[in-house]
Amino acid sequence: MSQFELKDEQNHPRHQVPEFTQMVEQGLSRRRFLGGAAALGAAAFFGASPISRAIAAATGKSPLMGFKAVPASTKDTIVVPEGYKVERLISWGDPLFSNVAEFIDNGGNKAADQAGQFGDNNDGMSFFPVDDSTAILAINNEYTNYELMFSHQGKNMSEDDVRRAQAAHGVSVITLKKQADGWRFEQDGKFNRRIDANTPMIISGPAKGHALLQTSADPKGERALGTFNNCANGMTPWGTYLTCEENFNGYFGTDGEVELSPALARYGVAAEDAGYQWHRFDERFDLAKHPNEPNRFGWVVEIDPRDPSSTPIKRTALGRFKHENAELVIDRDGHVVVYLGDDERGEHIYRFVSKNKYNPKDQAANRNLLEDGTLYVAKFHNGPNGALKGKGEWIELSFGKNGLTPENGFNSQAEVLIHARLAATQVGATTMDRPEWVAVHPTEPMVFCTLTNNRNRGVKDNQPVDGPNPRAENHYGQIVRWRPEGGRHSAEGFDWDLFVLAGNPEVHNGSLYAGSANLNADNMFNSPDGIGFDQGGRLWIQTDGNYSNEGNFAGQGNNQMLCADPDSGEIRRFLTGPVACEVTGLAFTPDQKTLFVGIQHPGEELAGSHFPLGGDSTPRSSVMIVTREDGGIIGA
Ligand code: FEO
Ligand code: CA
Ligand code: CA
Ligand code: CA
Repeated sequence: MSQFELKDEQNHPRHQVPEFTQMVEQGLSRRRFLGGAAALGAAAFFGASPISRAIAAATGKSPLMGFKAVPASTKDTIVVPEGYKVERLISWGDPLFSNVAEFIDNGGNKAADQAGQFGDNNDGMSFFPVDDSTAILAINNEYTNYELMFSHQGKNMSEDDVRRAQAAHGVSVITLKKQADGWRFEQDGKFNRRIDANTPMIISGPAKGHALLQTSADPKGERALGTFNNCANGMTPWGTYLTCEENFNGYFGTDGEVELSPALARYGVAAEDAGYQWHRFDERFDLAKHPNEPNRFGWVVEIDPRDPSSTPIKRTALGRFKHENAELVIDRDGHVVVYLGDDERGEHIYRFVSKNKYNPKDQAANRNLLEDGTLYVAKFHNGPNGALKGKGEWIELSFGKNGLTPENGFNSQAEVLIHARLAATQVGATTMDRPEWVAVHPTEPMVFCTLTNNRNRGVKDNQPVDGPNPRAENHYGQIVRWRPEGGRHSAEGFDWDLFVLAGNPEVHNGSLYAGSANLNADNMFNSPDGIGFDQGGRLWIQTDGNYSNEGNFAGQGNNQMLCADPDSGEIRRFLTGPVACEVTGLAFTPDQKTLFVGIQHPGEELAGSHFPLGGDSTPRSSVMIVTREDGGIIGA
C-alpha cells in the first residue's frame, strides 16, 4: 500500500508524505471531483425521491433538543450554543503527577516527562463514577503529530524521541474530583495512570499462545508489550474500560529484507512504516526481525481503571482488525453483545456474543465474559427497487463453519480470530464505507453505525455501490441503522435503513450526493465518525472530515459535533472545534449535566492553531468540559 493510500485512514505524521505523493493526491482529488458527475447515475437507480422514503423529514421541533444550533465556524476556538459553557479539563502533556515536568512548547520535553504526562491525541473515553465527588475518566491517546511533538518535526529522530512518542500513545486514566465549579482533574489522584506502547499486557482468549502470536521475547505468545493507535472505546457494566487498537500496522517497518504474508498485507503491514520510525530505534517494530509482532496488535484491550496496578488484557475473542469502538449491550437473555467496526475502506461490521450470561448480582463473575463467545460479521441485503433499507444477517465466524476450514486456509479458531478480515471475506460479508463507531439506543433495540466515507466505492471491484453504501466515490459518509429481529441483539437477522446521508445540498441537487432530507444548509457536515447516545436518547455525532470542507465537501468550517433525534431524524449542530482539529470522544456524567468532549490534533500539519492556550503556544489535543450555565441537562 502506498503512502497516499494510507493518507486519510492512517494517523501518521503527514510531513512524512513525499512531495510527489502529495502531488498525486492532489491530482486524484481533481479527478474524483470531476468523476462525481458520472457517479450521479446512482440517483436515478434509486428513483425520484429515495431519501424521503428512508428518512422522516426533519420537523425542527424535536422534543429531545432544546438548544439553538450554532453556525459553522473557522475560528480557532470551540463554539457552543447560547447558555452553554466550555472549559478545559486536561491537555496533551499535562503532568498526571506533581513530580513530573510540565509540558514545554515546541518539543521541549523528554521521554521520561511524557511517561507521566497526559498522552497525545485523545480519542474515545469513558466516565466511571466512584462516589458523589470522585470519578475516573479513562481516555485513549491515539497517536502523535511529529510536526508538533518535535522541534525537528520528525526529520531527525533519536531514540529518546521514539520513546517519547511511544509514551504519548495508549491510555490515560485520570481521577476527577467534583469541585464547587464542576468536575476537575486531580493531579496525583489515586487512579491516575499511564498505559502506553510498552506497558505489559496479557493476551487472553482463543488466540492466546497461537504460533502466530509467538515472538522471541514471548515464546509462549501470552504477553504483549503495550497498546497504540487506540481509537475509540467501550465500557462494561462490570466497570472495566475497553480500548480499541486501530491503525497498528503503520508502526511496523524495516530497512531490511522482508517477504510479508498475504495476511499481513491485508492488514496494511508494509516494509515502509507510516512515518513513526519506531523500527529504527526499537527492533521490536522491525518486521524483518520480528514478523509476528504485528499479530499482537489490532485487538480490544480490557482495563480495570480502578486498579492502577492491574494488567490490561487483550481479548482475542473479539477478533483482530482495525478496531474503531466496542459498543457493549446486555441482550434481553443476558448475553453480552459487543458491536465492532473495522475502519478501512471496504472492511466490515462485526458482532460478538458472549458464551456466558451477565449476572447483575455478581460483578466478579462477569469479569471474564469477553473471554469466550462467538464472533459474527454483517451481511446487508439490498432492499427492493433500490430502497435505502432492507434486511441483513449476521454470519458466524467459527472454525469449521461457513467455509472457515483448512481447505480455505483456516486451521483453528485462533487463526479465524487473528485473520478475522480474511474470515469475513471468506463468508461473503458486505464491504462497507469505513465503519467507524457503533452506538446502541439506551432503551430501544436500535443500533447506529457511522460509515465515514469511501472514495473506493464503485471504483474497486470488491466495493460495488449497494444498499447501505449507495454512492460511488463517497466523500460524505452516512449513518446506517439497524433493528435486530425480535428486538434481540443476539438474533440472526436485522432490518436496516439509513439514518442520514451526509452530503451537500448546495452543490448537488436531486442526487444522493445532496444528502438526505434531514441534511440541510444549516446542519450539513461530512465524515461522521464518533457517535454515542446520552441516557435521554439523543444521538451525538462527531465529525472527522476535511476541515476546510470546501467544494465537493459539505459544510463550511471546522469539524463539529451535532445532536440528532433518532425518531424525527432532526439533526442540529451543537459545537464547532478549533482550526484543523477532529472532534472525537464523548462521555456524559450519569446526571447528564456534564459532557466531556475530545478535541484531537488541533493545528495538525502546522495549520496554524494555538488551541487551547492561545498566544504562540503549541496546539495541544485536549479534553473539554461542556456544561449549561443553568446547570441543566446537556442538549435538552
Ligand atoms: Fe481512529 Fe477510525 O478513527
Ligand atoms: Ca474515529
Ligand atoms: Ca475518522
Ligand atoms: Ca482521529
